[in-house]
Amino acid sequence: MNNINASVSKWSVASRLFHWISAVLLLVTWIMILLYQNLDSNLYIGLHKAFGISLLCWMIARVINRVFTKAPPALPMPKWQLLMSKLSHFVLYALLIAMPLAGLLMSVYGGRPVDIFGLFQIPIFVTPDRGLARFYNDLHTDIIWPMIIAFTLLHIAAAFYHQLVKKDNLMARMK
Ligand code: HEM
Ligand code: HEM
Repeated sequence: MNNINASVSKWSVASRLFHWISAVLLLVTWIMILLYQNLDSNLYIGLHKAFGISLLCWMIARVINRVFTKAPPALPMPKWQLLMSKLSHFVLYALLIAMPLAGLLMSVYGGRPVDIFGLFQIPIFVTPDRGLARFYNDLHTDIIWPMIIAFTLLHIAAAFYHQLVKKDNLMARMK
């Protein structure tokens, strides 16, 4: 039943690269903030911002790629599950764009330009405003981040449910 590997319809190579490199960038951005929180070094907050901005650029390219990519035909599953997967994928895209944007706005409203790996800086392109800096800080840490954790865990749990319980080889589409 499930030795259909050869005939599995996969996402395009570009979509698979976009998917896994986004996941790695998210992981690295998170590890950088953990290092910063534990070692209190400015090196790591700088790297957190630079990797976060890299993820933002990557996600913009990913959305463009997605618009022009034909998704592989959906596997047979109840309609509500299909709907939930589409909805949660959409939310993940939105969160991965909103998160670095909130970080960027927090920094520039706080009066700090953002250094990108020592290569160039994103200048302060707004009039600094403590209230708005605080607002985007709260959005970044208290609202969007918990949502990223929740939706990512749900996403990974769903992938393993397909792999281990339904055994429908869904994971192979993204491998
Ligand atoms: C998707 C990309 C990003 C993710 C997943 C992310 C995640 C996080 C997390 C988990 C924290 C710690 C929250 C806490 O205190 O518990 C944090 C803090 C922070 N992030 Fe990001 N971030 C991203 C992008 C950015 C960007 C692009 C910038 C700035 C250009 C930025 C600036 C900051 C700053 C300054 C803090 C420290 C806030 C504080 O200590 O009050 N982040 N981020
Ligand atoms: C162990 C980690 C992960 C596994 C096993 C996994 C697995 C998958 C699979 C199998 C699909 C395709 C679903 C389908 O064909 O219907 C998919 C799509 C997707 N994944 Fe993941 N994923 C992982 C991590 C992540 C992370 C960390 C994110 C971002 C937070 C993410 C975001 C997405 C998005 C947005 C899609 C939809 C793609 C599209 O419609 O363009 N994934 N994932």
